[in-house]
Amino acid sequence: MLVLDDPGKVQELTEAWRRAGERIGFVPTMGALHAGHQALLARARAENTRLVISLFVNPTQFDRPDDFRTYPHDLPRDLRLAEEAGCDLAWTPTALQMYPPGPPTVVEVTGLSGILEGAARPGHFRGVATVVTKLFHIVRAHRAYFGAKDWQQAIIVRRLVADLKMEPEIVICPTVREPDGLALSSRNVNLTPEERRAAPVLFRALSWGAGEIRAGRRDPDALRRGIGARIAAATAAPLDYIAVVRPETLEPLLAADPPVLLALAIRFSRARLIDNLLVEA
Ligand code: PAF
Repeated sequence: MLVLDDPGKVQELTEAWRRAGERIGFVPTMGALHAGHQALLARARAENTRLVISLFVNPTQFDRPDDFRTYPHDLPRDLRLAEEAGCDLAWTPTALQMYPPGPPTVVEVTGLSGILEGAARPGHFRGVATVVTKLFHIVRAHRAYFGAKDWQQAIIVRRLVADLKMEPEIVICPTVREPDGLALSSRNVNLTPEERRAAPVLFRALSWGAGEIRAGRRDPDALRRGIGARIAAATAAPLDYIAVVRPETLEPLLAADPPVLLALAIRFSRARLIDNLLVEA
């Protein structure tokens, strides 16, 4: 596995691969790799002839300095896992390479970026859209892989690619969970032992909601109340939102006719977690 930091060299190499007829799969990450990333890498490895991972903790998508400060880092471990996953190239740019000094160019997908996670974390999706645009221009991938846990991010990236006529097909892969249902996230390491014991309630409550919808319940307020009550019985951590929305547009629903996305965010003491469940038509 080649490890490069220089964006110019990454672009040169991926362009050369394309000219040679290779199909390039790309998994953009902020490091702190876990089994969720490994599932993205395994799928990308299977579907392409070349596999590229980027490892870059993007400062512009953090709305809170303490979240940026406590975001876990372990580059040697990440590089070992990337190599084990069969990556041909690991790209580890520096903040200065990604954001040269001076007033920056930013990219924003309006509308979708201002609701749910975007309302709770102002500027977050502008940071994501900006860095993903740069990553996609440098890694000339055919396909890029994103996890369904960050559903809103994935559909914003799909919209970005469609609007800017960029190439990679955006592949959304299922959320990977611990055996007790907790969605894997790099931030889970910041949970206290007590919070970690309570956290599987998020998936249990979402699964209850999905079951109710499948059983014909349509009232979004009743679904939100039921999900909220189940979570409140397990933890005093405050919820940012519980949403019952259309998966492709994130529009709130007056009646929960599938397809429905149930999504939530909760603030534990040192980790804000999100999770969601898709109830398909
Ligand atoms: O999902 C992530 O890890 C990040 O938001 C991404 C897509 C790598 C952009 O920094």
